Amino acid sequence: MLVISDQDIIKAVEPIELISAIEKAYIIQDKASTNIPNRMHLNNDENTLLVMPGFIESIFGTKLVSLFPKNAEENKPVLNGIMVLNDARTGEPLAMINGNKLTAMRTGAVGATAVKYLSPFTAQTLGIIGAGVQAYHQALIISTQRPFRKLIICDKNLSKAEVVKDNLENRLEDIEIVVTVNPNELVIDSDVIVTATSSNEPVFDVDTEKLSNKTFIGIGSYKPDMQEIQLSVYQKTEKVYVDTLHAKEECGDIKIPLDKGLIKEENIIPFSSVLTSGKLPEESSIKVFKSVGMSLFDLTVAELIYNNAKEKDLGQEVKI
Ligand SMILES: NC(=O)c1ccc[n+]([C@@H]2O[C@H](COP(=O)([O-])OP(=O)(O)OC[C@H]3O[C@@H](n4cnc5c(N)ncnc54)[C@H](O)[C@@H]3O)[C@@H](O)[C@H]2O)c1
Repeated sequence: MLVISDQDIIKAVEPIELISAIEKAYIIQDKASTNIPNRMHLNNDENTLLVMPGFIESIFGTKLVSLFPKNAEENKPVLNGIMVLNDARTGEPLAMINGNKLTAMRTGAVGATAVKYLSPFTAQTLGIIGAGVQAYHQALIISTQRPFRKLIICDKNLSKAEVVKDNLENRLEDIEIVVTVNPNELVIDSDVIVTATSSNEPVFDVDTEKLSNKTFIGIGSYKPDMQEIQLSVYQKTEKVYVDTLHAKEECGDIKIPLDKGLIKEENIIPFSSVLTSGKLPEESSIKVFKSVGMSLFDLTVAELIYNNAKEKDLGQEVKI
């Protein structure tokens, strides 16, 4: 079995390949050979274990993710994970992959894929609210999709925004990076806004007249009581795109506006339909894309990482 570390993953894959793996996931999402159950949430007090299995034609696997919110107080990652990838023909384990890096890279690519299809080609400013592990990867991969000239990073804890800025500065040399504690100013000044926090309440509150033509990418909310996007945004947008329709039950960013009648069920659209129909939303409208994540993304990205690692002689073969 090949053990693939976070450093191996960095060396193995390019952003453009990650985005292609996410597009592949959307295209095979409804195929009969794709077998992806809803992920299991096992809650234990404030902590959560997510069990994410799935089969695609060429491979199957399981990602185990733990979310321990109090880790942040000890400066440890809130999210930890591991992915086991198996041969679809024999069931034999092929690889064990660092799940933290896999999750962050594939989620960055999910955000970037939404930007690729939904945001105006002229988008120049990217704003990210929540300066954690996801923020860094969202910035890195989304920035490949539009000619961004400025990146604004906001966190309620400014020092966290400073850390992400420092880490990105030598990776995004052509982009001016600024930090702020004011999410409303960030939203007004940005064309694409990514929310990547662990918040239970909307993280901004802006006059909706100032939101036209903006693209919102919701990453954080993964439980019914978690929210990031201001509710009035939903009154201004006709359709809301989701990576999986399971988002309707799973996350407050979809469930709460749905329960309040702010969006109609038929206007919650699987993002895969954008790829399969080729129909893009109107240029001037506010676009909302909400990701809760799904094991299908992990599988297509893990397969890419595994194949590239083998080709580039990365990782460590271990006999178990
Ligand atoms: N959609 C997906 O597939 C997917 C994948 C991975 C993680 N996530 C979720 O994304 C969220 C962020 O993940 P992470 O690993 O970056 O977490 P993290 O703890 O590393 O970072 C979250 C950051 O958000 C900040 N924050 C919290 N509330 C805020 C607010 N109201 N305003 C501004 N900043 C605020 C925190 O200070 C922290 O710096 C989590 O909820 C995680 O579960 C989603």
